[in-house]
Amino acid sequence: MRSYERSRQLYERACKSMAGGVSSHFRMAGAPHPLFFSRAEGSRIYDVDGNEYVDFTLSQGPMLIGHSHPHVLKRVQEETARGQLYAGQHESELHLAEKLQELIPCAELIRFSNSGSESVQAALRLARGFTGRQKYIKFEGQYHGWFDNVLISQHPSLESAGAEESPNSVLETQGQSREVLDEIIVLPWNDLDAVEEAFAKAGDTIACVLTEPIMCNNGCIEPLPGYLQGLREICDKYGALLVFDEIITGFRLGLGGAQKYYGVIPDLGTFGKALASGFPISFLAGKRHIMEKMADGTVMHAGTYNSNNPSIAAAAATVEVLESDGDLYDRIRSLGLRLQDGLRAAAAEAGYRAVISGPGQMTHLAFTASPKLVNYRDCLENDGGKYAEFAKGMLDRGVRVIGRGIWYISASHTEQDIDHAIDRAGEVLLAMRSKKASAVESITV
Ligand SMILES: Cc1ncc(COP(=O)(O)O)c(C=O)c1O
Repeated sequence: MRSYERSRQLYERACKSMAGGVSSHFRMAGAPHPLFFSRAEGSRIYDVDGNEYVDFTLSQGPMLIGHSHPHVLKRVQEETARGQLYAGQHESELHLAEKLQELIPCAELIRFSNSGSESVQAALRLARGFTGRQKYIKFEGQYHGWFDNVLISQHPSLESAGAEESPNSVLETQGQSREVLDEIIVLPWNDLDAVEEAFAKAGDTIACVLTEPIMCNNGCIEPLPGYLQGLREICDKYGALLVFDEIITGFRLGLGGAQKYYGVIPDLGTFGKALASGFPISFLAGKRHIMEKMADGTVMHAGTYNSNNPSIAAAAATVEVLESDGDLYDRIRSLGLRLQDGLRAAAAEAGYRAVISGPGQMTHLAFTASPKLVNYRDCLENDGGKYAEFAKGMLDRGVRVIGRGIWYISASHTEQDIDHAIDRAGEVLLAMRSKKASAVESITV
């Protein structure tokens, strides 16, 4: 049996100096308690108790080419040795921007920031500045960072969420400004009629439609055929901007992001996570005539740490790896599909109803009787308690997964890693099933 004792002790100590013992709300979750890690390499991560895990959390997505990639580390060391932050321009930043412009369809101009949350804010401000309109549409169940104006209806309860076709706008945390509710229109995802109706009612007040092109923060739900194109057409019809939040899909689906993958070009896109192998960087990309508002200073955007040397170096090195390895994306995707087949079979063998979804580069496992996930309301059917038990069972067997059901695959995973995870999943599911059977027996007796 694995011990988490040293982690437990450190966590207890951490609670005395750090709020909740952690640096991000999302790290508070997970059994047995937040773990402390000491190193990570390739597809493996190690905790302070000496436990090794095959890592499918990939730091919430960024480690697309694996932990501690030598090329990334080398470039970061070299660049950082020369200087760390200039509060001015540097050539590496320019080279990276030119490369991103080449790779991403909507990237006629870009601006760097440090986190996904920041780039989303830049996108919203620019959309407002460009259109002169105040409101924006966001979709129930989607996450766009932790700031007041987007942390809305990300995970509402069924009771608070209202009617499925016209959901309530639900604040997610105490302390959030209530005024943001006047600016937002929350709609169900994958439902073009709902979007058309909202524009028909208030089209001249809507600056943009903000969407994850794949709904990755609840389930891993791909757009229905024609959905993204439909959003494009509605935005064009009403003079609003289409904004893809590609913080997860960017670089993970392919070098051109979801916009290239699905062939729908938004006006603005936000990127981060998988771009830089764990270093903090994000960027807003957009069509030139819109980004000109930022270029001429009419719409303000700033940041002390924007385009800092280590992050730029990490991003440039990551893109080099992604570009130079010709079949990397096919490999990651086929590993993901192998995982999906294996999880499906393991769930069926243990007698669990489960939906396994996602394009492969990321995969989602939900314990649900719904035949498939199309929007947030379907995700509410997911048995989160059962998944938490499953995730703990996996952790105890050396496989680390995110507690909300999504699995990220990296180029450093191997078929052996995938098969190992599938075997462990089979064991966990059978153990859960027999525990449940004996609990039922003891109630019946
Ligand atoms: C789609 C999406 N947008 C924005 C963000 C916020 O990014 P960050 O955590 O880097 O601020 C996230 C984070 O998970 C995300 O998944």
